[in-house]
Amino acid sequence: MTEKKRILTGIRPTGSLHLGHYAGALENWLRLQSDYECYFLIADYQVSDYADDIARVRDSVWEVALDWLAVGLNPESGHFVIESLVPEHAELTTWLSWFLPLGMLQRNPTLKAEMADFGKKSVPVAFFTYPVMQVANILMPRAHLVPVGEDQLPHIEMTRELARRFNRQFKEVFPEPEGLVGRVPRLVGVDGQAKMSKSLNNAIYLKDDAKTVTQKVMSMFTPRMSPTDPGDPEITPAFMYHEAFNSDRAEVEDLKDRYRKGAVGDAEVKRKLAAAINTLLDPIRERRATYAANMRLVREALEYGTNQGRAIARETMEMVRDALDLGYLGKY
Ligand code: TRP
Repeated sequence: MTEKKRILTGIRPTGSLHLGHYAGALENWLRLQSDYECYFLIADYQVSDYADDIARVRDSVWEVALDWLAVGLNPESGHFVIESLVPEHAELTTWLSWFLPLGMLQRNPTLKAEMADFGKKSVPVAFFTYPVMQVANILMPRAHLVPVGEDQLPHIEMTRELARRFNRQFKEVFPEPEGLVGRVPRLVGVDGQAKMSKSLNNAIYLKDDAKTVTQKVMSMFTPRMSPTDPGDPEITPAFMYHEAFNSDRAEVEDLKDRYRKGAVGDAEVKRKLAAAINTLLDPIRERRATYAANMRLVREALEYGTNQGRAIARETMEMVRDALDLGYLGKY
């Protein structure tokens, strides 16, 4: 039997997960979880922008783990790892930052955009260097594949570059990992803004109940003025969601057809969308409720996964120290 290839991917513990996470990444995790050895990281070293709200981070570690179990990730085959409980991440970050030119970090477009979002607030040093830690996250289990949202691709590019440099200069330790973006690289918000996100307050959460989902869908942004105007489904958020989440293709085609002719009201489009999303979320809600009533299982998943993460981290750090030839005390 050949060894499985490894996946590493992660999420920052800042709140519950939403449909954007689902279509952009989680779906791929689910699809791939039995073909790869998976490490799913809860990246709590990387939330320096929440330093004034550690309580939120602490709660979100559980929220994320619950959402993962709810969507159907299997904690026995995929390891749920709490990043800071594997402090080797911090150690590897330090070594790797020797080999990363400052300019490469400064040019990273995702980091640039996120730093701009701080506006007048000052940016913590740890925020500026978080992509380096993300490189360490990915290299730690010597991952081959990193299924993520589209905005994370620059970090994967950096990871490949650092892996190449390290391997060339020292020893072949790290595979060059590939990024993999989900079916819907970027989901619009219910308000029509380019991206669904917690901070923009335009998200539908996996744990939202059916009534909340229906309310959010019914109040979605609609670009056309009147229900008898011909509409363009390509630029209408409700239709982007139909494409993403409604498995009844015939229904979607029929609605699009009538929408283009101005022969369907927005209320009908949205009612059918709410029903489709609720159908998708129902089994997720059910599993979530089961785990929420038995948090011991969630704790076990985190404990077991973190131990597995620590084990491979120790192995990798041995390889890194050997490659760097750091056996100082062995000399005499
Ligand atoms: N920065 C990622 C995000 O905001 C989360 C993350 C942390 C991650 N470490 C990772 C993603 C390692 C992939 C691999 O979504």
